[in-house]
Amino acid sequence: MGFFEGRDVLSALEFTRDAMEELFRVADHLKEEMRSKRVLDHASGRILATVFLEPSTRTRLSFHYAMVRIGGEVVDFGPEQAASIAKGETLEDTIRMVDGYGPDVIALRQRVPGGAKTAAEIAEAPLINAGDGWNEHPTQALLDLYTMREEFGRIDGLKIGIMGDLKYGRTPSSLSYALSKYSNVEITYIAPKPLQIRDEVLRNIEGRVRIRMVERVEDVMEELDVLYVTRLQKERFPDPGEYERLRGSYRITAQLLSQFKKLPIIMHPLPRVDELSADVDEHPKARYFQQARNGMYVRAALLKLILGV
Ligand code: NCD
Repeated sequence: MGFFEGRDVLSALEFTRDAMEELFRVADHLKEEMRSKRVLDHASGRILATVFLEPSTRTRLSFHYAMVRIGGEVVDFGPEQAASIAKGETLEDTIRMVDGYGPDVIALRQRVPGGAKTAAEIAEAPLINAGDGWNEHPTQALLDLYTMREEFGRIDGLKIGIMGDLKYGRTPSSLSYALSKYSNVEITYIAPKPLQIRDEVLRNIEGRVRIRMVERVEDVMEELDVLYVTRLQKERFPDPGEYERLRGSYRITAQLLSQFKKLPIIMHPLPRVDELSADVDEHPKARYFQQARNGMYVRAALLKLILGV
């Protein structure tokens, strides 16, 4: 039985290097298969339930497309039902109900850190954490690594700058955890001091990754292989004044990039706001739209492996 078969996917800390490598090979294979045939039949007769209780564009859509393109069906919880949660139904009750209809796998996004774990304990179907508040977003980390591997042919030895809102973001933590399973990786956390990476993330990767913390991207740009930009998580700032103060404190533009002789590839989980200018889109180092496309192949591979089909 493979690593992912029948398994909940809650944290990128759980991944092993071998499990990720296997998943990347399956994603490569599905990408190839989907070139000649748009809808495959691996997951025929299987149902994915998507429950998104926080806004999502790419994650929800790519899960949906992934399941349909490997031949399965999707039942989406829907924004109306999400709104009824606001009436006071608990996450526990919601998950118990959804799970009771008999999905083969559930993808859940909600705003309570650790909520995915609580839900997974209730659900009989394997549950995928599609983002739990500021805590983690493990499937995003998988597509991030897949995109790096596509670019460099390896993850070992890469120098990765993770920039932006490292305090309230869930992609920097999961990305750090996934990277920590490879050898000789160096992570540079680039953020204004109040937004630097959370201590618990550093503790979780201690001794397995070389770490630096800087405030200005200009000081490290030429040393990086990858610059991973993230937006200010406006909705998670307890103090809107703090958000306003930090807004615009970092921004990648074509003009900024033109000042360097050597450049990393530019990645971003999207959506972007002010931190990544649209004039970078045509830059030869921009990879974020390719990264978003890869989300579908990587999630298709993950669903296939969880379902064991
Ligand atoms: C990220 C998320 O939801 O954490 N988006 C995504 O899934 N691609 C990043 C973000 O919202 O900033």
